[in-house]
Order: sequence, then structure tokens, then C-alpha cells
Amino acid sequence: MDQLLTKETIEWRDRAREVARKVVLPNAWKYDRLQEYPWEIKEALAAAELMKVWIPKEYGGAGGGVLDLCVVVEELSRCCGGTGVLFAVNALGSFPILLAGTEEQKQKYLPGIASGEKLIAFGLSEKGAGSDAGGLETRAELVGEDYVLNGLKKWNTNGPAADLNTVFAVTDPESKSRRVSAFLLEKDMEGYSVPYVEDKMGIRCVPVGELKLDNCKVPQSQLLGGKPGLGFKHAMMTLDRARPGVASQAVGLAQGALDFALLYATQRHQFGKPISAFQMTQQTLADMATKVEAARSLVYTAARAVDAGVPSLTKYAAMCKYFATDVAMEVTTNAVQIFGGNGFMRDYPVEKYMRDAKITQIYEGTNQVQQMVIARNLMKGAHELKHLEKYIPVEEQMGVDHDNL
Ligand code: CAA
Repeated sequence: MDQLLTKETIEWRDRAREVARKVVLPNAWKYDRLQEYPWEIKEALAAAELMKVWIPKEYGGAGGGVLDLCVVVEELSRCCGGTGVLFAVNALGSFPILLAGTEEQKQKYLPGIASGEKLIAFGLSEKGAGSDAGGLETRAELVGEDYVLNGLKKWNTNGPAADLNTVFAVTDPESKSRRVSAFLLEKDMEGYSVPYVEDKMGIRCVPVGELKLDNCKVPQSQLLGGKPGLGFKHAMMTLDRARPGVASQAVGLAQGALDFALLYATQRHQFGKPISAFQMTQQTLADMATKVEAARSLVYTAARAVDAGVPSLTKYAAMCKYFATDVAMEVTTNAVQIFGGNGFMRDYPVEKYMRDAKITQIYEGTNQVQQMVIARNLMKGAHELKHLEKYIPVEEQMGVDHDNL
């Protein structure tokens, strides 16, 4: 389907595919077992200039869009879901700077991220603030000329490896809509530590940790955009731009699992013929391939919507994340099924795809949150359906006696 992509997007995809096949695929299972950050893979991504895709040219980037970012994430995830996120999480962490940073903050941080020299994470979630992101309690108080941050961040993907962290904290506890602000923190800042690294089911090559802020004192220049109170809005706007990346991680995982399942089905013999000769296997493969293609189409539509800045981009980002990640879970599970007993074994490739897929239904907003976001956006558009009203009988016309209900 190259005809549907621009020359630039195809170039990004092909470049990512080359690195994925040469460097990611041969090392994917090793780092999964070790649960270690694959520095050699990160270096290969930086050497291929992939870390600069989404960063504007004036800050050392390549000036690509979210669709370009998505095709890279998809290709990497097709070979290793962990690598897909270790790449994409740098976009998640740096989108707030792109969206709302001061010129000084952009000049200071974006070139290092674009070159791959600096890694960044996104610190929104807390123990009591997962889906309810607005309920976070990490506090940032202005003391003299500096902000002092205290709190514990959870599920900070890439945090243990990252040099930088975009962290959200309460600056005005009394305010309803301007309670939260974002801060750009560096790992060497006073009071910044990563006391715990999680042991995970999937995406094991990218570390997820706790981030402790213990009287972490930072100058006001670290307040994102230089203005307090806009943090929650900026977090939501960031997630709108990053969720297509999670969805493309899901598409890549589903495609990778399908690739293996298809090959295996033609090689594995039972009852004297390859299992691909059985209609039930063919039906499963056809179903998997159709769903992968449908998910990919929705992800690309959402990424294009984000790049075009359409007003309904929030809805499309949520839809593609919800749909593609459920497809990834289903397709990777079916790939394990096609591999049969071997699929369950760690000597075979597909169980990793299934483990890596699970988190895509959870992070950057659970799929239940995505459904909530989609529904809220649908309700907002309900007034556009007024022309249909006259075709729906009003309750009184149907003889409903409200007094006696
Ligand atoms: N764009 C801009 N502004 C937005 C917005 C958007 N997409 N969504 C909401 N807002 C604004 C609203 O307009 C509102 O503004 P006002 O106060 O000025 O009216 C404000 O934000 C509050 O909005 P809501 O009332 O809708 O907020 P809510 O508390 O009901 O929460 C939610 C909405 C959608 C559930 C949100 O909390 C959410 O997305 N939760 C999931 C969080 C999430 O995805 N966490 C993942 C963190 S990253 C991660 O997973 C780890 C990792 O490292 C990969």
C-alpha cells in the first residue's frame, strides 16, 4: 500500500525496517530475558537518525509528523514491542516541550533528544492517580525563587534510563482547573532519584520505575512554558499526540506475530499436511490479517488527523489506541494458538509478542478510558443530529404516563 503514503513517510518506514531487521530482531529475545536496556539498539536508532523524526528542523530534528513517527514505531515493534516503546516514549516525554515549552526550553532540550544523546520520560501517573490522572498529589511549591517538588511517580516508562523527565505536579491545590503544572527535570537534580525498577510481564527491555522527588529544588526556568496551572491540559494534549504511537506499537506487534504464524502454519505438518491446508487455520489467518489492516488504517487516519490538527483529533487518537491494542491482544494470542504447544514455550518467538501486547491496552490510558473519551466526544457532537429529531416519537406521543411510572 505504498501508494497511500508520501515518499518521506516511506523513507522513514524503510529506514526503520532496516534497523529493525538488522539490529532489533537478532537481539530482541536476549534483552527480553535479561530485562536490560538495549543500549546497542538505542545507538543504532540514533545512528540511523530515527530519534529525530518528530522534532522540528530548527531544533536539530527532521521535521516529520506523527504519521512518520508511527510508521517507525510500527516497524520497530514488528520485531520487538519493547524497542517500539523505548523509542516512542521519547516522543511522549518531549511532546509537552514541543507543545508548550518556552523558546529557551526548546533550544536547551530538543537537540539532545533529536540526536539520541538524551533520553526522556513522562511522569504523570502516581499510585493513586492512574486513570484519574487529575488526582495526582505530587506537590511543587514556590519557595523563594525556586520550586520544591515532593512526591512519588509510578509506572515511569523509560525513567530509570532517562536523562530528562517531564513531570506533573500540583502547584495550586485550591484551584479546580489550574491545579497542575509540568516541570522539566534532569536526573542529576537535587532530590531526584529512582528508588525502584519494576519486574515486568512484557516490554522487558525498557525499564519502568518509580521516581522519587524528595525536596527536589529546581529553578523557575524548569516550569514548562514559564506559566503555572496549564499542566493537566498539556498532559491531555500530549496524550492525544502520543496515543497513535501506542496504537502503532500494537499494529507492529500484531503484524510481527502474524508474520511468524503465517510462516509456521506453512511449515508445521499434522495429519500429513501443513496446518495451513486446514480451513480452520486459514480462517484464523484471514481474520488476523484483516484486523491488522483495519487497525493500521485507523492508526494512519488518526495520525493524519493529529498532523492536520483537526478539532476531533482527541477522538481519533483514542479510537485508534482502543481498537489497535485490542486487535494486537487478539492477534498475538491467536498466533500463540497457531503455534500450539510450541507457542507457549519461550524457545519459540510468539509468546513474547503476546506478553508485549498486553501493556498497550493499559498504558497511556486504559482502553476503558479511551472508550470514555470517545463517548464524551460523541456526546459533544450529538447536537449536530437535530435534523433527525422529528423522526423519533417523543415520549408523550407514545402515551407514556410519567406520573404513574
Ligand atoms: N485536550 C485539551 N484539553 C483537555 C483534553 C484534551 N484532550 N482533555 C481534557 N482537557 C481539559 C478539559 O477541557 C478540562 O479543562 P477545563 O478545566 O478548563 O474545563 C480539563 O482538561 C479537565 O478535563 P476533564 O474534566 O475531562 O478531566 P477528567 O478528570 O474527567 O479526566 C480523562 C479525563 C480522560 C479520564 C483523563 O484523566 C485521562 O486521560 N486519564 C488517563 C491518563 C493516562 O492516559 N495516563 C497515562 C500516563 S502515561 C503512561 O501510561 C506511562 C508511560 O510512561 C507510557
